[in-house]
Amino acid sequence: MINNWNDRFSDNICEFQGYSIGKIMKYLNNPDIISLAGGLPSPDMFLKTGMKAAAKARLEEDIDTIMQYTSVPGEPALVEAIIGFLKRDNIVVKPENLLVTSSGQHGLDITGRLFLNPGDTIIIDRPTFAGAIVAFSMQRINIVGIDIEPDGADVAQYERQLEALKNEGVKPKFIYVVPDFQNPSGITCSLAKREKLLDLSYHYDVPIIEDSPYRDLRYTGQTIPSLYALDQQRDGDHVIGLYTFSKIFCPGIRVGFNIGPPEVIARMVNIKEGNVLNTPKFNQDMCTEFLTTMGLEDHLTKCREYYGEKLDVFLATMSEYFPPEMGVTWTKPEGGLFLWVTVPNHIDTNDLFQDALKYKVAFVPGDVFYGENPAYNHMRINFSFADIDQLTEAVKRLSRCLRDRLKMG
Ligand SMILES: Cc1ncc(COP(=O)(O)O)c(C=O)c1O
Repeated sequence: MINNWNDRFSDNICEFQGYSIGKIMKYLNNPDIISLAGGLPSPDMFLKTGMKAAAKARLEEDIDTIMQYTSVPGEPALVEAIIGFLKRDNIVVKPENLLVTSSGQHGLDITGRLFLNPGDTIIIDRPTFAGAIVAFSMQRINIVGIDIEPDGADVAQYERQLEALKNEGVKPKFIYVVPDFQNPSGITCSLAKREKLLDLSYHYDVPIIEDSPYRDLRYTGQTIPSLYALDQQRDGDHVIGLYTFSKIFCPGIRVGFNIGPPEVIARMVNIKEGNVLNTPKFNQDMCTEFLTTMGLEDHLTKCREYYGEKLDVFLATMSEYFPPEMGVTWTKPEGGLFLWVTVPNHIDTNDLFQDALKYKVAFVPGDVFYGENPAYNHMRINFSFADIDQLTEAVKRLSRCLRDRLKMG
């Protein structure tokens, strides 16, 4: 019998704690709790009829190949459909620029494995997506965090940091950003800041990883070109794009894709050969059907209306139940699934989370969204999953909970 398995685990894994959001999920089994914690799209937006019909048809037509090993880079039909999907967004790619992944998280994991050695430095926003932090941290790296502003990355701070790192002889492996309706803040990066980020990427010779799960979920305002498209216009080849179908189709299918220069994609294919091999053909086929036969644009329009209404209700209820004297502020996203609430400095939202459970409402305490030096007075709120009545009730409960903590009566 092995006495101490811990002694045998790899250096990469020994200090690795896994997905930090996991620590709160165990509290959320009680059905009376209104959870604004998960990043779940609403089942109301799942194309269940289309999915059932497509599944039946594909299984009848092609069961032998569906049950077989298939191509590692991705099914040609899906690759073709994704090329069309990206063209709508002014991104032009060929099959050699594209790897189908088994979800956005898989795309992040492959990216971390491809670029990072222990001790390497990367630059991320403060806060940023916790799943990216967890995927990259597995490689035991140094994380430099740059504060995010209401219109996106603090590019002046990026420049100062890049210059400081250069003076220390450190070249970051990449910059990781979620420019559209960022998880967790809901913030979108302005066009001017995207251009500046690219300038910095070229000047300091540091690639950008652009993670875009929410780009198609814009409820107000004008679409801003992706970093990938802007980089293409400038012939830069500095951006790698990560995408997932989880938020616009469904997370259960676990399909996404990475795009980038052919030499990057070829090495990502090698990594995928070493972990999942092929993404299940059945799941890829469902995504192909989603992109080609399920009324993509109508579906996206419905999602925008549905989530946009929830966001409006949520923001209006926040204004009603969090008057200025409570000292609480929150972002006003133009899309996506999240917003970011800031409470007075002295309140640790991990403590507030425990209070909130008593009021039967839950959120994610914000400290998990920092790669270094966390801030403790924020919470991430998801507004896409709960129904509208639950959302308004959740805001009331949160307000009562915070008033109690602030002893406001
Ligand atoms: C910014 C970002 N990237 C990647 C992912 C992971 O997506 P998936 O569920 O496809 O693994 C998420 C999911 O919430 C996300 O918000």
